[in-house]
This record gives sequence, C-alpha cells and structure tokens, in this order.
Amino acid sequence: MTERPERNLGMELVRVTEAAAMNAARWMGRRQKELGDQAAVDAMRLMLDTVDMDGIVVIGEGEKDEAPMLYNGEKVGNGDGPEVDVAVDPVEGTTLLAKGQPNAIAVIGVAPRGSMWNPGPGFYMEKIAVGPEAAGVIDLDAPVAVNLQKIAKVKGKDISDLTVFVLERPRHDKLIAEIAAAGARVALYGDGDVAGALMAAMPDTNIDVMMNVGGTPEGVITACAIKSVGGQLLGRLSPQSQAEKEALEAGGLDLNRILSVDDLVSGDDIHFAATGITTGRLLRGVRYAGGSARTYSMSIRGRSGTIRYIEAVHQWDKLMKISDIDYNK
Ligand code: FBP
Repeated sequence: MTERPERNLGMELVRVTEAAAMNAARWMGRRQKELGDQAAVDAMRLMLDTVDMDGIVVIGEGEKDEAPMLYNGEKVGNGDGPEVDVAVDPVEGTTLLAKGQPNAIAVIGVAPRGSMWNPGPGFYMEKIAVGPEAAGVIDLDAPVAVNLQKIAKVKGKDISDLTVFVLERPRHDKLIAEIAAAGARVALYGDGDVAGALMAAMPDTNIDVMMNVGGTPEGVITACAIKSVGGQLLGRLSPQSQAEKEALEAGGLDLNRILSVDDLVSGDDIHFAATGITTGRLLRGVRYAGGSARTYSMSIRGRSGTIRYIEAVHQWDKLMKISDIDYNK
C-alpha cells in the first residue's frame, strides 16, 4: 500500500441502511406499503444526520410537496464532510415487504456532488446489468439472443445454463419469450430490480444477468454498486406513458441515448450500502429475537472495489437510548 488509506464513508452508510431495515421489517406482510416505507424513511433520516457529509438528496422519495423527508433537493448529513450527491431507496421493494416476499432491501448510494445523473421526469428505463466478466460484451441494441450468447461465452457456460432476472410485468412478455427462445432460464420476480441487478453482478447468486424495464431512480442507485464492483449496467429511458414521453421531450432528454454506469455516476469515489429487510438471494432479512435484532448488510467502496458483508446484532434497550425511534414497535 503506497497511499494513506482514506476514511470509508460506506461503513457509516451501513448504519443508515441497518436502521431503515430494522424499522421497516416490523411491517413485513402487513399489506401496508406506505407505512413500511415511512418507517424506513424515519429511521434513515435520523441516522443520516450522524454521517460526516454535506449531502444533497438527488434520488429520493420524490418532490418536496409530496415527500416530507428525503425529498429530492433535501440536505442530509451533519454538514461536516465532503459535498456529495445522495441516492436513497429506504425500501426497495415496498410491495415485497408488504407481502412478506423475498428481496426487499434498504439502499443508499453516495458520490461527489454533481456526479449522479438526473433522470428528470423519467420514471422508467430499459436496463441490462451484468457482473465484471460480462461487462464488456453487452449491448442494449443487440438482440436478446446475441447478448445471452456473449454472456454465456465469457462466463464459460452454455446459454441453457444462464438465468435471467426479469420483473414480472406484461410489458416484458416479448422479452421473456425471446429469452426462452434463446434457451436461457428466466427468474421472474414481482419487484426489486436493484437486488436483481446486484444478484447479476455478484457471484453465487444463480442470476447471470438482469434484463427489464424498471425504475430510473433505481438505475442510478444500482449503478453506484455495479460500477464499484466492475460490472456494467446499460440503460435507456423508456417512457411508459404519453405524458412521461412528452415530459422527457419537453425537458430535452435524449430518449435514444444509451447510458452506462459511467454516465449514471461519474468518477470512482462512490459508496454504496444495502441491508436486507426480507430474506432474499442477495441478503438475509432482519431477524428479531427478544431484546435484539440481527441485520445483514453489504458495503461497497468504489475506489477499491471492496465488498464487505456485515452481520450485526443490535440491542434494543441501547438503541432506544440513542434515538427517538422505537425499533421494537
Ligand atoms: P418500489 O419499492 O418503489 O415499490 O419499487 C419496486 C420496483 O419493483 C423497482 O425495483 C422497479 O425498478 C420498479 O418498481 C418497477 O416499476 P413498476 O412496478 O411500475 O413496474
């Protein structure tokens, strides 16, 4: 090591996603997605104030008038550290949490001020995401079968060995048929394409690639993680209504532009953290036991590409003393 190691903001960010997950996971299966999300937002907001950074939420819970906290443009952090852009999704997979289904996670991405792409009024984006081995071979303009052939080749597999994560939506009927016709397997999930893309980028998840049209904010958050581990996410705005299309055109956004992870978040001074809310292939969910809760998180640092998996046991009585949130509710 020739340079002095820098502070790792990502470790502090894990505390933020842990708090969100612990407060939200109590809402598992209660069919109240807004309340589950609110619980995560409350805890995330409280914990963010402890982080040494001068942050602005650029991907958040929406505009100020509709989101009381973590709205786009809100200042977060204690103001003492670096000037950064912050992308948050307190519950990625609100319906998964409300139904008690796998893969709901709390996520945050942080990068220097001005480095995150602003999707403006764009809600939806066509995306393909892979891990480091296949980062150089995917092409959003290529036919599905060609992408799958190339991914299989660099991974030393047959196409029939590949599993593709796809969100289960009617808009993906043609895509699913094309994947099946190419001979690959499909894993259909109800929600959560951040977890889907991360599974594609990480070894040992049994997912080789994610292909679908999902949320644009989710694309920016995902890029923080995928870029940091050397994978690739290619995206292109894909408006799903006439109103969305017109708003994008009026805003001057290029609907044909293919965005890579470098366009979605520039530079390498990136931090990403995620904590499992409900158990999935990527992360285990929150486990409550009497006076404590156990959480499973990952923290990724762009500069080094290091991925840390963090298991933590939190003691309720002590947590209550340091915050006005009752995680035990
Ligand atoms: P929420 O957590 O906001 O409910 O989003 C879940 C999600 O499945 C994302 O992972 C995905 O990008 C997006 O919704 C897809 O949008 P839609 O449900 O409108 O197809």
